[in-house]
Amino acid sequence: MKLQHATWPEVEAYLQHSKGIVIPIGSTEQHGPTGLIGTDAICPEAIAEGLSEQGILIGPTLSIGMAQHHLAFPGTITLKPSTLMAVIKDVITSLKGHGFRQFMFLNGHGGNIHTTETAFAEIWAEHSLDRQASELSMKLVNWFQGPKVRALINELYGEADGWHATPSEIALTWHAYPDQIRDVPVEPEQAPFGEIRDAFHYREQFADGRIGSKPQLATLDHGRQFYEAGVADALAAWASLTQSD
Ligand code: NI
Repeated sequence: MKLQHATWPEVEAYLQHSKGIVIPIGSTEQHGPTGLIGTDAICPEAIAEGLSEQGILIGPTLSIGMAQHHLAFPGTITLKPSTLMAVIKDVITSLKGHGFRQFMFLNGHGGNIHTTETAFAEIWAEHSLDRQASELSMKLVNWFQGPKVRALINELYGEADGWHATPSEIALTWHAYPDQIRDVPVEPEQAPFGEIRDAFHYREQFADGRIGSKPQLATLDHGRQFYEAGVADALAAWASLTQSD
């Protein structure tokens, strides 16, 4: 069930049997010479589609994240950490007012991790300082770190998955949008690894945008396997979030 495709009476009825919602969160940023700008939003949204088929309510994708380090490449859009925190807090507060209590943010972008966790900590801190029990469970789930997905990455690519513009995420976008496959030369074969600072430092270090990855290894069939592994991992995370309350 998707929030964007539901009516308010349907949401009211859903709240009679569940207080949980999944919010896909991603980024709009360069993904090397072959990866789509929307990769980090497309991946969690694709996996959320599988959760939706199980009757779990899926909120609208937060498709702009914290991507300052990619700004030296055309097409990237960022929110500052403080802006993203404010967005996350407002989304949770809006939904809390309707009765939602369990929030699973299904994330596709490493650069969102610290900011999202800090937004959760801010909300809990405000409740604690007000001496009010918050009743909220908030969990960040990075689809690319689930146990089944990690096992598949190790089996298919090993270290060549790299850190950015990875074959695993690119394969999953191909599964979601098979008409958007790019076949262009990638040099060098495997990108360098290194430290991430600001946007200009990033472009100096990583000329074509990749970090440590060999996205040429991606295939459409891998994309289907990542979809299935990602849905299984996300369902397990959802079960632990909703059954612990
Ligand atoms: Ni990515």
